[in-house]
Parts: sequence; C-alpha cells; structure tokens
Amino acid sequence: MNILLIGGGGREHALAWAISRSPHTTRLYVAPGNSGTERLPTSTNVDLAVHDLDGLVDFARRAAIDLTVVGPEAPLVAGVVDRFHAAGLRIFGPSAAAAQLEGSKAFSKAFMLRHDIPTAQAAIFDDFDAAMRYLRGLDDAPVIKASGLAAGKGVILPDTKEGAAAAIQEILLGGRFGAAGNTVLLEERLQGPELSVLALCDGTHARILPPAQDHKRLLDGDRGPNTGGMGAFAPSPLATPALLAEIEATILRPTLAGMAAAGTPYVGVLYAGLMLTAQGPKVLEYNCRFGDPETQAIVPLLQGDLVEAMLACIEGRLDKATLHSGDQAAVTVVIAAPGYPDDYETGVEIRGIEEAEAHGCLVFHAGAKIKDGRLVTAGGRVLAVTALGDTLAAARAQAYRGAAAIRFNGAYYRRDIAAAV
Ligand code: AMP
Ligand code: GLY
Repeated sequence: MNILLIGGGGREHALAWAISRSPHTTRLYVAPGNSGTERLPTSTNVDLAVHDLDGLVDFARRAAIDLTVVGPEAPLVAGVVDRFHAAGLRIFGPSAAAAQLEGSKAFSKAFMLRHDIPTAQAAIFDDFDAAMRYLRGLDDAPVIKASGLAAGKGVILPDTKEGAAAAIQEILLGGRFGAAGNTVLLEERLQGPELSVLALCDGTHARILPPAQDHKRLLDGDRGPNTGGMGAFAPSPLATPALLAEIEATILRPTLAGMAAAGTPYVGVLYAGLMLTAQGPKVLEYNCRFGDPETQAIVPLLQGDLVEAMLACIEGRLDKATLHSGDQAAVTVVIAAPGYPDDYETGVEIRGIEEAEAHGCLVFHAGAKIKDGRLVTAGGRVLAVTALGDTLAAARAQAYRGAAAIRFNGAYYRRDIAAAV
C-alpha cells in the first residue's frame, strides 16, 4: 500500500517508523515530515503543510495513496477526514464531528456530563459578566480553559480567585487565544496523578494501548514552566488491570456509545487525559489523536502490525485485530534546545545519534532538519530518545545512556523521567 502520514513532529517520526515496518507498506509519504522521517527506508517527505487540506487530497489522488494517517489535531478538527471521505479516499482518524471531543472543550464537557462520564464539574461561558458572577459564588479558584484549540496553552491553573478573574478577562475580553477563547470553562480543580490512556477505536470497540505518563514541566521534580512534554513512559504502574477495566467501563465505552448514538461514531485514536482522584479516574481532556511524546514510548512497545490495526479500525473490525503490547516497558527522554519553551536558538549542529542508536535506543526527530548536509536543530523539542527494557528501570537506564550520547550546544533534558515510579 501507498501510505500518507500527515504531520512533522516526534510523534509522526515514531508513527512513520512503525508504518514503514508494516508488511502492508510499499511506500510511505510524510507531509511535511522531518529529518527523521526522511531517513526511513521506503519513506519520502512531501512539502505540504498539515492545514493544506486541498493539497493533501490532491496529493493522495495523484500518488495513488491507499491509506492516510493523521498525526496532529488541527487538520482533524478542520475536517481532513471528511474531505478525504468525500473524495473516496481511505483515512485513519475521527471526522470533524467526532474530533470536537478535542476541538471544543465546551462540547466535550457537555457530552461527558450528559453521559455521566466522570469529569471535573464545570460551567461554560461566553459572557464575561456571567462568568464573573459565577466566579464570585465559588469557594476556591477554578481552572480556566479556553474552549477551542490553543496549541496546548489554553489551560490556566490560577492559585487565587483574583488570578482566575484576570485570566477570564484576558481570554474573553483581551482575545488572548483568539477565537479559541470566545468560550471559556470554569472548572473544578482536581487533585491526583495524571495518566494518558490512548485507545484505538473503530466506532464501537476500543483497544487500550500501553497506558502512559508524560512529564509536562521543564525542570526535574515537576518544577518550572509547562512544555509540550519533556518525556514519557509506558506502561504506567498506576494503571493496574482493575483501574484499566474501570476506565474502559466508565469512560471509554460510554464515550464510544455516546458518539455512536449521536450519529458521529468515533474512529481513530482516542486519548483520554485522566486524573486519578480519590473518587476514581476523571477525564481532564480528550484528545482526538496520538499524544506527543507518549507515542514515542507507546508505539515501540506494540507487537503486531499497526497499519493492520488502523485498517481494522476503519473497517469496524477492531475486535478481531491482533495487536499486543508485550511485557516490556519504554522510556522516552526529550532533548530540548536551550531556552525552550521560550525563545531558543536553531541551526545548531547535532551529533551523536548513531552512538545513541548503538546503545540500543530509538532516536525520533522532532525539531531537527538537514541543512547543507548536516543535521541541525530546528525547534524547541529537538529529539526524543526511547529505550525499551524488561523493567521501567532498565528502560530508563538505557534511555539515559542514549540521551547522554546526543551532543549539541546547550542540549537540555530532564534527569528524572520515569524516576518516581
Ligand atoms: P488539559 O490541556 O485540559 O489536559 O490541561 C492541561 C493540564 O492542566 C493537565 O494536564 C492538568 O495537569 C491540568 N488540569 C487540567 N484540568 C484540570 C483540573 N480540572 N484540575 C486540575 N488540573 C487540571
Ligand atoms: N502529551 C500531551 C499531548 O499530547 O497532548
């Protein structure tokens, strides 16, 4: 099969790595891809942006693409799956209607409350005065969320009600997140560890992938600013079989049933961002796609053919698909540019990838590119180094041997990924 993968980050390099190993794959195209996807056998980068839906449909037709896989949320929410279906093309991912689970937090909150899916209590406002009146009646500062897509930055956790008021003002009146902030959620603040549960879905059935934890803060000990993710590991020891059964029964199955009943069945990867509270697992957010950097840890653990599993999702026969997770653990350490997540330098030469690979690691490229024949930094999160092991501790030790082999000026990584488990 000719396969097109949409996206160009570390997540997409990991997906491309798995797709290129599938017996189904004749040729893989990645739009726009990166220096890592370009290096894979049978893979070619295509110079098309993820939001260029016309260009992507046109390319898929011309290159006789048999299956398209979508990495990021923006094209899904913009309707790339509907566009491909209208053109008679096969694509893995949710329709725009189903992708609202991520694209509109107002939609997903109302959906969860309607279907008794455990989540934080919240109220939804597009009127500033009404939001302030509600805020005055609360005992504690709520979490403030812009309803629309805000590149992972739309959630604010103020410590005081004054801070919450300021955030609401900036979003609703100050246009801080543009149209994504025309509606805000004021949400009860929950406590507990977080778990990322990703499941393949065929509209009816869900198949849980190895449950993961990511590390969002920049500095060791979960200090410093939030980032796109500084590392991940799977499976999480928090996810006991009993807990996963509860998550499947109280969250995943009702989500699929609710979406199907609404005439918008969910096909693709459903990512439930959960908080494990004293009252049980609750949904903080849904994502309509694979996580980054969770994917760089999860995908290498899968035994079986990921392309075949995606086809099973599209054809509604996931219950018969064979995709196993094995017994191993995976740890992913993200190597970032100095200054990330604020301003960072690019164009700095990267060395040591072969050495990291010689340590048995997989090195996934994110913000990296080839310039004048040299590999240089091109983003804030530059590489993700993944190692597998029989235990999390073994995987962790090996991932850090790999990370230490990577050298570029100011290369930064956390030292405590998967350490506190
Ligand atoms: P989200 O983009 O909704 O996952 O939110 C980003 C991060 O904000 C989450 O990973 C949590 O750490 C935190 N967060 C979101 N909602 C809540 C909540 N209701 N209570 C406590 N923390 C939250
Ligand atoms: N790791 C968080 C996300 O992918 O949204």
